Parts: sequence; C-alpha cells; structure tokens
Amino acid sequence: MTIPTETHAIRFHQTGGPEVLKWETVPLAAPGAGEVTLRNKACGLNFIDTYHRGGLYPVPLPSGIGLEGAGVVEALGAGVTSLKVGDRVAYCAAPLGSYAEWRNYPADKLVKIPDSIDFNTAAAMMLQGMTVEYLIRRTYTVKPGDLVLFHAAAGGVGSIAVQWLKALGATVIGTAGGKEKCAIVKSLGADHVIDYRAEDWVKRVKELTDGKGVHVVYDGVGKDTCIPSMDCLRPRGYLVTFGNASGPVPAIEPLLLSQKGSLFLTRPTLMAYTATRADLELSANALIDVVSKGTVKINIGHTYALKDAAQAQSDLEARKTTGSVILLP
Ligand SMILES: NC(=O)c1ccc[n+]([C@@H]2O[C@H](COP(=O)([O-])OP(=O)(O)OC[C@H]3O[C@@H](n4cnc5c(N)ncnc54)[C@H](OP(=O)(O)O)[C@@H]3O)[C@@H](O)[C@H]2O)c1
Repeated sequence: MTIPTETHAIRFHQTGGPEVLKWETVPLAAPGAGEVTLRNKACGLNFIDTYHRGGLYPVPLPSGIGLEGAGVVEALGAGVTSLKVGDRVAYCAAPLGSYAEWRNYPADKLVKIPDSIDFNTAAAMMLQGMTVEYLIRRTYTVKPGDLVLFHAAAGGVGSIAVQWLKALGATVIGTAGGKEKCAIVKSLGADHVIDYRAEDWVKRVKELTDGKGVHVVYDGVGKDTCIPSMDCLRPRGYLVTFGNASGPVPAIEPLLLSQKGSLFLTRPTLMAYTATRADLELSANALIDVVSKGTVKINIGHTYALKDAAQAQSDLEARKTTGSVILLP
C-alpha cells in the first residue's frame, strides 16, 4: 500500500456548534518514534467529541477531533516492535484526530482486534464498551442480584451496559426518552424501562424497588438527572456520574450525601481507568471477550460518511441517535 503524503481530516479552528467542523486536506508525515501510520477504516463518534468541539473540555486550537477508530497498520516508526504492518487494530484515546482517513498514532495505545470483530464494530465499541467495562466492574463492582439504574440506556454506552449488566446477573432499570427508545432498551434485556421524559422516574424507581432504592445509579446525562438520582438510591448506595449529555452537574455539598443516606459519589473517566498498558489491556480484553462470545452485541444505530461528521454530531446532540454511531472515511 502506498502511503499518501496528504490526507483528509475533520478539524476545527474555533469552538462552537457542529458548523465549526471542517473537512480539510492535511499533510501526513512519516510516523515518529513509537508511532505507527494507520489507515482508518472506521471512526467512532462519541459524546465527548461534542464537548471538545463546543469548548466544555478545552483543547489547544486548531485541532483534529475524535478519540476512537479502527484500521490497519501501514507503517512503523522507530522502536515499534509490538506491531507489524497489516495488523488490524483499534484505539480510543488521545491525541485527538481519529476523524481522519489516515493518521499517525502511538503504538502503545493500540489494541489488536481479532478477525471475528469487523472494523465497524471495533470502531463502534472501543470507547463506549471499555467505559462500560470499568463502570460496572471497577468503579462499582456489580454483583448478581444488584439493582441498577442506568440512564440514557438506548444510547451508545447505555446499549452496551444493559446487556453486560444482565450478563453479570443484575436487575436493570433503564431510562430513555420516548416510546421507540424505551422499546429498544427492553429488547436489550432490561428488566424495567422508564420513559424519563414522560414519567415521574424517581417515584417509579422507588415503586419498582419496593421503596428500597437501587444499589447504584450510572448517570451519563448529568445536569437534568444527577441530583434527583440520589433519591433513587438505597442508603450507602453509589452515584456514578460519568457524563454531561444535558450539561455539567452543578456543585454538590458533601452534606447532601449524608442527608440522602450516606451515599458514595464518584466522577470517573475512561482515561484514568486505562492509563497504564495493563489496565488498557484488561479493559479491552474483557470487552473483546464479551463481544466475541455474543454476550454483548454492538448495535450500530447510524453510519455517516466521515465528511458528514458535523451532521452526525448534530444528530447525537439532538437525541436523534440510538446505539453507537460510526463515521466511514
Ligand atoms: N466518563 C467517561 O469515562 C465517559 C466515557 C464515555 C462516555 N461518557 C458519557 O456517557 C454519556 C453517553 O455517551 P454516548 O456517547 O454513549 O452518548 P449517547 O448515550 O448515545 O447519547 C446521549 C444520550 O443522552 C440522552 N440525553 C439526555 N438529555 C440530553 C440532552 N439534553 N442532550 C442530548 N442528549 C441527552 C439522550 O438519550 P434520551 O433521548 O434517551 O434521553 C441521548 O441520546 C455522555 O454523557 C458521555 O459524555 C463518559
């Protein structure tokens, strides 16, 4: 394969709405020490991409965008011994810039993917699936019989979480906005589904748990759901706030945690749970295992051409998507 000296990539020069994303031609240098040149076959779209683009999570500008992709190693930089040309790999970490046809990327953040997992599935599953892995196995360790509330359960992270939680033996209450999304959550295996845009969901969780509350709430919605979620927990329950889809969560006084029942509160990130090579491999291997066995099916709800990334982000922010979303170069 001849490696081009230029490639197309989505970049942004200022923060703002999806319209700041531009399809540009950029130079492709030879890979540096410790890097490989990758031909991306599919890129993953994630909510965090909108935080980078919009400025909630500031990045130096101008910048590429996107953390996740899957593709083929086409060239090795100096010192790379863990990979060879032709390896099928996937990734979901900085540096930003996965929304690209080709790119250079650090070899030690790549994971080899088995032939049984195609590139689209790999790009759809890495970031959201490894997030589910650490949330339900390492942030709060879900046990058989635990009652779990998972918000936005029809989304990318949520769709994977519902299936994996069921495999762990939990009783799953999923929330989603609207009838169609609720039907999806039910089809994924959730025991109970609440349309949190139409129902008093806190009251409903209490009813479904005989007034006791759940052991753990996983909340990627943020501003709209985080504080009320405390009232869904049993004493000494865990509130895991891991995202800001509706906006960042306001400040919380520690005393509130005591008043609501000696609750535990944590705000984890995938980066912190996969910072070492050992943790990255632990997480990726667990995900590859459940996907290879069919325990967790990756639902690719939407596929866009890479150059239509702005439309894809706009649809994600407008709550129009379900499952994972990928961009194809
Ligand atoms: N901390 C971490 O390590 C980590 C890692 C990955 C993802 N995350 C977070 O996990 C969450 C889910 O990520 P994802 O990529 O899988 O996205 P997603 O769940 O596919 O999409 C977000 C969903 O959030 C719900 N939502 C509720 N209020 C919303 C609002 N005002 N605007 C937009 N959406 C709203 C929508 O579902 P309904 O229509 O059903 O309400 C929407 O479909 C995000 O907050 C993301 O930042 C965190």
